[in-house]
Amino acid sequence: MIENEVVSIKNLKSPKGTFLLGHLPQFNTYNKHQVLERWVEESGELFKIHFVGKEFVVSANPDFNNKVLRLRPDKFKRFSKIDEILKEMGVDGVFNAEGDTWKRQRKPIAEALSVKNVRAFYPIILSKTEAILEKFKGYSEKGTVVDVQKEFMAFTIDITTEIAFGHKLDTINNKSNSFQKHLEVIFPMINTRVTAPFPIWRYFKKEKDKILDQSLKSIEKVIYEFVDDAKKRMEENPKLRAQPSNFLEALLVENKDANFTDEEIYGNVFTMLLAGEDTTSNSLSWTIFYLAQHPEIVTKIREEAKGAYGNKDVPGTYENIELLKYANAVVQEAMRLKPTTPQLYLEANEDVVVNNVSIPKGTNIILQNKVAQTEEGYFSNANAFEPERWMVSECPMHKNHSPNVMRAFGGGARYCPGMHLSKSEMIVLTSTLCKHFDFKLEVKPEEIRERFEFTMYPENLKVTFKPVK
Ligand code: HEM
Repeated sequence: MIENEVVSIKNLKSPKGTFLLGHLPQFNTYNKHQVLERWVEESGELFKIHFVGKEFVVSANPDFNNKVLRLRPDKFKRFSKIDEILKEMGVDGVFNAEGDTWKRQRKPIAEALSVKNVRAFYPIILSKTEAILEKFKGYSEKGTVVDVQKEFMAFTIDITTEIAFGHKLDTINNKSNSFQKHLEVIFPMINTRVTAPFPIWRYFKKEKDKILDQSLKSIEKVIYEFVDDAKKRMEENPKLRAQPSNFLEALLVENKDANFTDEEIYGNVFTMLLAGEDTTSNSLSWTIFYLAQHPEIVTKIREEAKGAYGNKDVPGTYENIELLKYANAVVQEAMRLKPTTPQLYLEANEDVVVNNVSIPKGTNIILQNKVAQTEEGYFSNANAFEPERWMVSECPMHKNHSPNVMRAFGGGARYCPGMHLSKSEMIVLTSTLCKHFDFKLEVKPEEIRERFEFTMYPENLKVTFKPVK
């Protein structure tokens, strides 16, 4: 090939597949992301696959991926099936919005999740951290083997629901209420439908589809009641405009120019619940997966915690987080090795050339971001868990260090607006748990599997917690 010659996707390589079904049989599994990684090994950084004739370009090249992400919203959008499925469920929020609708929604959403507002939401994070700490103290006294993934999910459900629209749940203490049960129905169904080869539910509703409809109706009713209440509350108490106590209130403050319809407000509150729960709890679980294998790192986080908030059980103020630089590095390192969104699905809005590849309008693209995050050329000792590489003072000891290939929160204009919020939750909980406990894996590390269900989590992560004397 001549250098700089524009390459058509027709000429891209392809891993082995079958004639009619293409790569679908291999991809139709619980660990899709690992199948993609194997294909990167087999076919290189840029190749194509097809699912029953529907073609996808796959890129694991960080430069190409960054360019594509930065060409949004004009040249690329999210894979349109995501919007189709979410809209069908009545969810019309910033995650699946495109074009002018996205432009109008993005700024107020990002403002509502700004550092200033996350600081105002901090008491919610703190009270849930205290709640889970108490629960884990009980577990540690009894020597209970803890299903960490389940516990962290309860933690993020409680926080996200209260921050999204002020609805207080106590999933941490198993006081499950119907709202949470309805949410649990919805998450797996989104995953099933986005990855389903044929939308059978549009022609024939099985029992699970009818249950989904019921759950969506119930959630809609609850959220709309909260929207009405919040509107009244803000009219009666203008002071709330200066310090909104949740995302919904913050969104109403930011809504002057965007003029959200009630459906869009509902869609965005719902989007917060969808986008903020699994992603954060899965990242926390992976952090514990590594900490349970690295007691020396736990000790270092503990020392930092003592320095930052002394004898207190939890970091009492938002400012404390600034001091927890090592806990921050630990979370960052867990997201490097185990990003919960290892790939992003996009689609070209128009004909476009990226690097030297010609991409016709309508082409589906999978950006595989994980492979580069674990490559020696970008990070020395790439497969080792070494949080020190993220500490400014220690970076030079690592020859290769390329933060720019980290795409755990996406990139370009559509990068994750919940980053500050999720990082605050993760740093506070990681620091608090390390301050109080030592961790022990109760299964062999190789028995803990990566599982992908819209986001990637550790299956079978079982840990015991030993109190620190
Ligand atoms: C560790 C936790 C999290 C991870 C790893 C994560 C990751 C991501 C990723 C990869 C994207 C796609 C970005 C792109 O297309 O470039 C995204 C988008 C988004 N995330 Fe997060 N996220 C996390 C937490 C949260 C939280 C806590 C919230 C809010 C409560 C949130 C709200 C959103 C929204 C609204 C979008 C769509 C943005 C847009 O399309 O403009 N995320 N997130």
